[in-house]
Amino acid sequence: MELKISPIAHKEFGAVVRGINLKTLTDQQFSEIRSAFLQFGFLVFPGQFLTDQENIRFGSRFGKLEFGALPIANQTKHEDGSYGEVISIKTQRMRTNIGNEAWHTDSTYWPLSSKCAMLSAVTVPDQGGETELADMRAGYAALDSETQQRVATLSAYHSTQFSQANDIADFPEQKQGTIYHGEAYLRPLVKVHPETGIKSLFLGRHAFAIPGLDRQESRALLNSLVEFVVSQPSRVYTHEWQEGDTLFWDNRVLLHRARPYDYSKPRTMIATRVAGDLSELAYYPEDSRAEAGRQALATELALLRQETQGKMFA
Ligand SMILES: [Fe+2]
Repeated sequence: MELKISPIAHKEFGAVVRGINLKTLTDQQFSEIRSAFLQFGFLVFPGQFLTDQENIRFGSRFGKLEFGALPIANQTKHEDGSYGEVISIKTQRMRTNIGNEAWHTDSTYWPLSSKCAMLSAVTVPDQGGETELADMRAGYAALDSETQQRVATLSAYHSTQFSQANDIADFPEQKQGTIYHGEAYLRPLVKVHPETGIKSLFLGRHAFAIPGLDRQESRALLNSLVEFVVSQPSRVYTHEWQEGDTLFWDNRVLLHRARPYDYSKPRTMIATRVAGDLSELAYYPEDSRAEAGRQALATELALLRQETQGKMFA
C-alpha cells in the first residue's frame, strides 16, 4: 500500500488520501499527512471505518482534544455503543444540529476556538446530509485591496446563542457550562495562520456586532464576506458521505456546514475536535474585556427576540 494524496479537481483546497490505514499510522506517514493538512486545509480518508478509540487516537496526534468521539447524530446511543431510535427535531440537540446547516467555524463561541475538526460517518441517509467546506484563505486572497484594508482592523463577537437565534429563531436557556453560556468573544475578522503564516478571513454564523460599525453595517459586512467566500465553486467542496469515510479539516481557515436531509432517517457521525492553541484564544470570562461581549450579546438577543417572532422555532 502506498500513500497517495490527490488534490481535489477544480478546487483551490482539499485532497483525498488513499493507500493508508489510519489505525496503524507510522510517524513518517503522519508527518506527510500533517503537511498535506496544512497545505490543503482538509483531507478526505475514504473507507477507514474507525472506532471511537481510533478517532480519538488520530485526532490526538494534532493536539489536545476539545472532545473525542462524540456522536453527532439524530439517534440515541445505547450503553453497548449501538444506536437506536431517531430523535425529534424539536429537541435542543436537533435544533443545534440544524443550526449548523449555516456556514461556521467550530467553537468560536468558546474562549479557545478550535484547531481541527474530524468527522467519521457511521450511518448516512441515501440523500442529503452532506458536509460542505469553504476556503477562507482563498476568499481573503480574492478580496479587493480596499476590502482587505477595511477588514484588517475589524473584529466581531462570536456566540452560538446569537447564531441559533439569528439563523433558526432558537433561544435555548442560557446556562453556564453549556455552549449557551451568555458570553460573546471578540475575534479579528482576519486571522494569520499560526503554522503557515497565511492570512484568511475568520467569521461565520456565530459572528455579530463589529465594534465601531452600526448593527446594519455590521450585519451587511459579515453576510457579504461569507457570501463572497462561498460565491466561487472553486472555494466550496461538498462531501457526499459514504459510511466509513473520515473527513479532517482545519477550523482556523475553513468554513463548513451540514446540509439538510430527511430528519426521520438515521444519520450518525463520530465527531472529534482538536482544541486551539494560544493563537486561538480570545480571552476568558474573568477578563475585563468580557463584559462588553456579554452586553453586546444581551442587546442583540433582545432585538432578535422581537424580530424572529413567528419564525421556525420561536
Ligand atoms: Fe461544525
